[in-house]
Amino acid sequence: MTKEKAKSPQDLLAANKTWAIKKTEIDAGFFKRLSAVQQPKYLWIGCSDSRVPANEIVDLQPGEMFVHRNIANVVPHSDMNSLAVIQYAVEILEVEHIIVTGHYGCGGIKAAMSNTDHGQIDNWLAHIKDIYHAHDDEFKVLSEGQDREDRLCELNVMAGVRNVAKTSIVQGAWRRGQKVMVHGWVYSLTDGVLHDLNVGLAATADLHPAYRIEGA
Ligand code: CO
Repeated sequence: MTKEKAKSPQDLLAANKTWAIKKTEIDAGFFKRLSAVQQPKYLWIGCSDSRVPANEIVDLQPGEMFVHRNIANVVPHSDMNSLAVIQYAVEILEVEHIIVTGHYGCGGIKAAMSNTDHGQIDNWLAHIKDIYHAHDDEFKVLSEGQDREDRLCELNVMAGVRNVAKTSIVQGAWRRGQKVMVHGWVYSLTDGVLHDLNVGLAATADLHPAYRIEGA
């Protein structure tokens, strides 16, 4: 990639002014409406990677998607950050779809597969190493390199989908009759296309019995 001269923060502020003016020209009430309320139908849980900008790749406007991103889109059981996001999205915003999205070529996945010391982040990536370890037999028959990376990327999304569904928050919503569907997608950096892994979960019955919270 040719190295372009990086824009300065001042350039970004100037670009923002132009963007805001353009938005208002197209729709005079756009910001006034948005400032009053947000009613997104989707919660996106994705990777922080700068090449996977959530709203942009699904062509959604401000206000249309609640977004949580972290390194390698991991959803650990007791991560207060993602749990807070999921609770707010489900109980207050009442989103109808939670979409866990990974991406092929994810640096976090590659790092988790290596034995290199990456410092503190290795503790975060240990969640992915757990998945790698649990599927040892499957990985053994795949060729080293991209095939294994791609598969671990998919398995990490599937684990994320299950972990979202296992939360007391999502199971509580299902028990109340609230419709929430959890999806697993993978984005391809090389062509900009999202792939549905078809691992969606929509009810407590979709979970292994060990994880079901039946309520009082
Ligand atoms: Co990534």
